[in-house]
Amino acid sequence: MLPDRRILERTIFPYILERKECHRIVFVGCRWYTKRYSATFADKDYCTIDIDPKQKKYGAKNHIVDSLENLATHFKPNELDVIICNGVFGWGLDDKPAVERAFAASFDCLRMGGLLVVGWNDITKRRPFSLDECDALRQFDRFSLEGLGTWRYKTRSFNRHIFDFYAKGKEV
Ligand SMILES: C[S@@+](CC[C@H](N)C(=O)[O-])C[C@H]1O[C@@H](n2cnc3c(N)ncnc32)[C@H](O)[C@@H]1O
Repeated sequence: MLPDRRILERTIFPYILERKECHRIVFVGCRWYTKRYSATFADKDYCTIDIDPKQKKYGAKNHIVDSLENLATHFKPNELDVIICNGVFGWGLDDKPAVERAFAASFDCLRMGGLLVVGWNDITKRRPFSLDECDALRQFDRFSLEGLGTWRYKTRSFNRHIFDFYAKGKEV
């Protein structure tokens, strides 16, 4: 298993699974290898979203075909506990205004203390711009994930996969 997938599945997912306050979860972007996450999160209220209708078959029972930009048309404000957006920025969600809309909608839909996980690749081809220049992400607090001890965790993967953790307000 690649180092980034191992961190996602063996450190980040357990953190979420162990916390009953992390119940309503949206996972962004589906592929064949994410299909089994429905079973991982079977005891949670787990929903998936992907802009590409072809990926529906890999999504949760509760799957949305749409862009993350439109998350607020599917969820009420403050409704979600966790959003996991891994490998989407730089993999289709590239345009700066679209990224701003996507993370602004994520902020609106998360409850106070809710967690946003952004996984991205720090290589030219997959980094449309610096995420540190994203205004919507500046609304969040940086959150140091237990077990990783930092808000920005650089994995040892060949494609420089990084996980950033953001909280809406302090509590998670
Ligand atoms: C490289 S795959 C990542 C899949 C998965 N999230 C993971 O952990 O590997 C990128 C996926 O993001 C989806 N995607 C791209 N832009 C999107 C957007 N604006 N909103 C929702 N999904 C998007 C693509 O259709 C594709 O299925």
